[in-house]
Amino acid sequence: MKIITKIAELRDHLSAFQRPAFVPTMGNLHDGHLALVRQAKPLGDVLVASIFVNRLQFLPHEDFDTYPRTLQADCAALQAAGCDVVFAPGEAELYPQQQTFKINPPSELTDLLEGHFRPGFFTGVCTVVMKLFACVQPRVAVFGQKDYQQLMVIRQMVQQFALPIDIIGGPTLRAADGLALSSRNNYLSSAERREAVQLSQALQAMAGALRSGTSDVAALEQQAMAALAARGWQPDYLTVRQRSNLQTPGAAEVAALANDAGLVVLGAAKLGKTRLIDNLEV
Ligand code: PAF
Repeated sequence: MKIITKIAELRDHLSAFQRPAFVPTMGNLHDGHLALVRQAKPLGDVLVASIFVNRLQFLPHEDFDTYPRTLQADCAALQAAGCDVVFAPGEAELYPQQQTFKINPPSELTDLLEGHFRPGFFTGVCTVVMKLFACVQPRVAVFGQKDYQQLMVIRQMVQQFALPIDIIGGPTLRAADGLALSSRNNYLSSAERREAVQLSQALQAMAGALRSGTSDVAALEQQAMAALAARGWQPDYLTVRQRSNLQTPGAAEVAALANDAGLVVLGAAKLGKTRLIDNLEV
């Protein structure tokens, strides 16, 4: 496995391949990332993973400075998972000047959910992903479904810019108790880690209620938020949305969509200082 930090060297190395498959990451890898690598590996003739903690997608009060940087361990894990090339540029390589050209996704995708609670997040994500795509020039890229809205935004960006890249979603990996794997789980104290499963359980309960015919989405959301808040969480949202556009389904649509694999429940909530997100397709 090659570890490359310079764009020119990456391009030079990849010029020997026809169909790079790509998994972008911010490092601090867990089994969820490694599963994406294994999923992507047979889709191309060379597997590239990137590791870059992207300043542009963090708000000033967020955890950019403390985000764990674990390059050595990440490279060892990537090698074991079958990765061929790690692209790990420093900030001065990817952003040699202030990045003033940016990709601004449309507000109907970003004014809601993560975009509402993390203004500018998707501009930061799209900008770095576009730039990483320009560096790697992949033919296929795999993104985790745990970041459900991110996957949708990137799919639409690639479609609108006619980029010749297949965007594939990778299933969320979970711990034995159901907690979605995330680099941010490392921030949890052991008591918080025991409590953390409540987020996925709340989403499961919402999905179960929808499957068994509940149509009062607003009440379902309020109950779920209140139940987590009563346990000491600070929920940003627990919500039922249409898979196709992440909009709230109308009352009439709920039953039809619940039977027709058209809904997703999504949640984001803070436990102590750690913000966790998760989702479940219904
Ligand atoms: O999902 C992530 O880890 C990041 O948002 C990504 C796609 C690597 C862009 O920095």
